Amino acid sequence: MRRGPLRPGQRVQLTDRRGRLSTITLRDGGEWHTHKGVLRHDLMLGQHEGVVVANEAGVEYQVLRPLLNDYVLSMPRGATVVYPKDSAQIVQVADVFPGARVIEAGVGSGALSLSLLRAVGDRGSLRSYERREDFADIARGNVEAFFGQPHPGWDVVVGDLQERAPEIEETGATDRVVLDMLAPWECLDAVAHALVPGGVWVSYVATVTQLSRLAEAIRASGRFTEPEAHETMLRTWHLDGLAVRPDHRMVAHTGFLLSARRLADDQTPLQLRRREKQSDVTEEDMAAWLPRDEDAWSEEALKTRGVTGRKARKAAAHAHRMAEDARAAAPVTGAQDQADEEEGSDDR
Ligand SMILES: C[S@@+](CC[C@H](N)C(=O)[O-])C[C@H]1O[C@@H](n2cnc3c(N)ncnc32)[C@H](O)[C@@H]1O
Repeated sequence: MRRGPLRPGQRVQLTDRRGRLSTITLRDGGEWHTHKGVLRHDLMLGQHEGVVVANEAGVEYQVLRPLLNDYVLSMPRGATVVYPKDSAQIVQVADVFPGARVIEAGVGSGALSLSLLRAVGDRGSLRSYERREDFADIARGNVEAFFGQPHPGWDVVVGDLQERAPEIEETGATDRVVLDMLAPWECLDAVAHALVPGGVWVSYVATVTQLSRLAEAIRASGRFTEPEAHETMLRTWHLDGLAVRPDHRMVAHTGFLLSARRLADDQTPLQLRRREKQSDVTEEDMAAWLPRDEDAWSEEALKTRGVTGRKARKAAAHAHRMAEDARAAAPVTGAQDQADEEEGSDDR
């Protein structure tokens, strides 16, 4: 489905001479209007990616299907998405493998879900928990629009992970857990319940205060290995003749990744020698620097952007329109595997 001539319902990315990107959905007889003129979709339909087409005023565009990285940055969103540089690291740090059973929360706009679904493949499974129905709806639309049909291994549960997972998940049957939420420490028991011994838990958090709160909670639980943290800074480069140098601007901060592995039950975590002494952080210390009151960890306090229900509903409607187009463009088959075989292609 991601190879072969361009078909109606598929999304394409148009690049102009200044490198500006626009993403449109192709339609029979469709037109793309800008202040620079009108581009007829028929010039692209039936062509292979990589063609250069001109609008009626002679302005040229290079035409390519969006890659996953491009797609997540242009798709409708409610909550902030995990950036591709972090999704790539999450897949690697969490060691997500084809066929793995993975749990994720929250699903937000579904950006990270897409990377996880590609990594687990059609024979793996991803169960995504999301407390906001409107966000879950955006994610469903975005994921279906990307794959052109529902992914066979994906299931979305609306509700809080810490409440729903203990009822739904079998004890120790999950290989990997990935959390992207404000207060992941609230899910510690649910993660410990679901993860297989040796299973990996990765959390993506935006602030150092969350990182610290989570690391101490993991240590104090005694059910995981020593937590490890890192962040990824991606610096893009300007390439122009002899002017080869880092770009002047970069995204300086997105978030931190914290990972730990589930121990077998009734084990005492190994104390690493390099820690000079046991964490002598007491409950009182923690309460002094990091609020224990769970209501304190609000979007407002962490200065993250809240999303209104109206904005989320608009994004969901947009995502579902895209999914409808993608379904119409996809070959009419059953399972994803079959679709890929018939197309003789799969870039997942
Ligand atoms: C930043 S967004 C996730 C973005 C998502 N990873 C993406 O790449 O599109 C955080 C989401 O977590 C959800 N959430 C927060 N706490 C949760 C919990 N305990 N269980 C389930 N969902 C939760 C929020 O409603 C929000 O949609």
